[in-house]
Amino acid sequence: MTLLHVDAISKTYYPKKEGLSYKALSNFNMSVERGEFVGVMGPSGSGKTTLLNLLATIDKPTSGTFLIDGTDPATLNDSQLAQFRRRQLGFVFQDFNLLDTLTVRENILLPLALDKTSHKTMNNRLDLLADQLGIQDILDKRTTEISGGQQQRTACARAVIHDPKIVLADEPTGNLDSKSARQVMDTMTTMNKDEGATILMVTHDATAASYCDRIVFIKDGQFFSEIRKGERQQTFYQKVLDTLSVLGGDFSDDHKTRS
Ligand SMILES: Nc1ncnc2c1ncn2[C@@H]1O[C@H](COP(=O)(O)OP(=O)(O)O)[C@@H](O)[C@H]1O
Ligand SMILES: [Mg+2]
Repeated sequence: MTLLHVDAISKTYYPKKEGLSYKALSNFNMSVERGEFVGVMGPSGSGKTTLLNLLATIDKPTSGTFLIDGTDPATLNDSQLAQFRRRQLGFVFQDFNLLDTLTVRENILLPLALDKTSHKTMNNRLDLLADQLGIQDILDKRTTEISGGQQQRTACARAVIHDPKIVLADEPTGNLDSKSARQVMDTMTTMNKDEGATILMVTHDATAASYCDRIVFIKDGQFFSEIRKGERQQTFYQKVLDTLSVLGGDFSDDHKTRS
């Protein structure tokens, strides 16, 4: 069953002062099935973050529509939209976005606390999830006392604690060494396979991408191609590399090169 259906969305940025407008996404289509783990890849500046911001309902498309489990966020008013974002979406960012005044446990429970879920329900859910994701040992630590990989696994738990319709992840391994990156990708795989989370992940890293079921490639704001994982992850990894070389362009981590 289709969970996310994107129908010909375009996004044009208009500069505040005079200057040229820029079409970051152009008639873009894609869909994600319930329970799927889909990657989005494309050169720097191809529109990946723009796409994620639209789906996250942080920004609005210039034209076109999309449905998340049958809901068109464009039809919601501001307070409905805030509730939709909080209840139906989960987020994982490149820089973790945890609150360092809180413990790991408190960070993960935050989305439930905002919705006034009972303590018993919250803690039962947390215990189950912490077990599955292998983070029981760090629940009472502060985020300053754990590694980057552990912080991102905490962010992953926070992204699924409220059982969202879809998890949106933008370069989740972008700030991690390769060992931590693999652990985070194992965590995302567990979220997908055991928790049944539907995931849409932007990445420029072929290793991270090889954990997905399918990759959609974007170039210049348009759909370029897609590939699907067959039997072996290694073969898929090679296919990802081959497609990236056909695609051309700069795949360096834009977050890092800009700052
Ligand atoms: N707020 C904005 N205003 C103007 N241009 C933007 C804005 N955000 C992104 N862009 C431009 O849109 C294009 C796509 O950006 P982005 O979606 O961040 O690409 P990616 O994540 O694939 O690197 C880039 O050329 C970028 O400079
Ligand atoms: Mg980006």
